[in-house]
Amino acid sequence: MKTMELVFLLIFFSVTHSVRHSLTYLLTASSGLQTFPEFVAVSMIDEVEVGYCDSNSKRAEPKQDWVEKLVKDYPLHSEWHTDSCVSNYLILKANIAELKQHFNQTGGVYILQEMVGCEWDNETKEVIGFDQYGYDGEDFLVFDLKTLTWITSKPQAVIIKYECNSDKAGSDNLKNFLINICPQWLKKYLDYRKNSLMRTDLPSVSLLQKTPSSPVSCHATGFYPYRAVLFWRKDGEELYEDVEHGEILPNHDGTFQMSVDLNLSSVTPEDWRRYECVFLLSGVKDDIVTKLDKAMIRTNWVSPSEFPAGPVIGGVVGLLLLLAVCITGVFIWRRKNNGFRPANSSYMLSLESSSVRDADLS
Ligand SMILES: *[C@@H]1O[C@H](CO)[C@@H](O)[C@H](O)[C@H]1NC(C)=O
Ligand SMILES: *[C@@H]1O[C@H](CO)[C@@H](O)[C@H](O)[C@H]1NC(C)=O
Ligand SMILES: *[C@@H]1O[C@H](CO)[C@@H](O)[C@H](O)[C@H]1NC(C)=O
Repeated sequence: MKTMELVFLLIFFSVTHSVRHSLTYLLTASSGLQTFPEFVAVSMIDEVEVGYCDSNSKRAEPKQDWVEKLVKDYPLHSEWHTDSCVSNYLILKANIAELKQHFNQTGGVYILQEMVGCEWDNETKEVIGFDQYGYDGEDFLVFDLKTLTWITSKPQAVIIKYECNSDKAGSDNLKNFLINICPQWLKKYLDYRKNSLMRTDLPSVSLLQKTPSSPVSCHATGFYPYRAVLFWRKDGEELYEDVEHGEILPNHDGTFQMSVDLNLSSVTPEDWRRYECVFLLSGVKDDIVTKLDKAMIRTNWVSPSEFPAGPVIGGVVGLLLLLAVCITGVFIWRRKNNGFRPANSSYMLSLESSSVRDADLS
């Protein structure tokens, strides 16, 4: 028991006091797979996916609500990612073809992966950059930041290693990206993430009813964070009977919605005034109180004497629109004559200093 507690404490301690953050790009190019895009790029902050792009969509898309905000504030930053996604797709595709030729491989499935990014310690300010390739699931090439050279443990990759190492400008661009630009972006992303966690959005609350005999649904949408309660009150007292609570559901913009239904079948019209719906958001003092009032109920119910009014019950949801900034293309190779070369500045769209400058976040 004691050991378990100690282990738990150690894990807990290291999790809650972790100050080392990471920004990682995972690029995967494949050949011979029918059901998987030829190229997929994912960007992650602290192991959580924040952006995505593939060779089908050819667009960098945000995967978190705070990334959407960042993309709005820095459109060129987002464009850089889309451009890099497309250029890396083409180049990694060519690379696989070259590798297959180099290793004398014909049919079958081949996968080239790149993991590149940086870690930043918010207390010591230490920065670590990394860039490494795997081919068919095995380590293939690793960039050594100290010597600015590529290293391989595979004898078959030695020739490729020499080719990569002959490009000094490419190595310098890569170094600049790994130890200057990547940590700068990471810090900015962390700021956005933090601000999004601290923000609160109040919802709009409406009363909805499918048919005149259906329960009345009190629907709150657009609140953030999700720590919120929604309930019905009668004469100031919370109601538990004839009440049905719905789940909290995500909206596509990162906010949430929920509803609570009240069955009014045994309530006389005179008593309606005694009921109200209350919304409370964690960390916000003021509640939102909505009185039960026939005139305020929105319905799609069509009776001969009535026109439809207002939108339908909000149970539509469930569809999380998944969006993401895929950040890709950090280091790319380019095909040159008969072999691999790291891309030189003129070809390396993603890391060329001018295009990276356009993507600047300061
Ligand atoms: C580093 O990050 C941790 C966790 O987010 C935070 O508690 C701590 O205050 C930060 N330290 C500095 C110096 O910002
Ligand atoms: C490549 O494969 C072919 C056919 O399997 C073989 O004849 C040839 O010797 C191989 N070349 C190399 C360099 O391994
Ligand atoms: C509402 O309550 C009545 C009786 O109190 C019940 O017969 C009816 O099924 C309820 N309606 C719903 C939708 O739960």
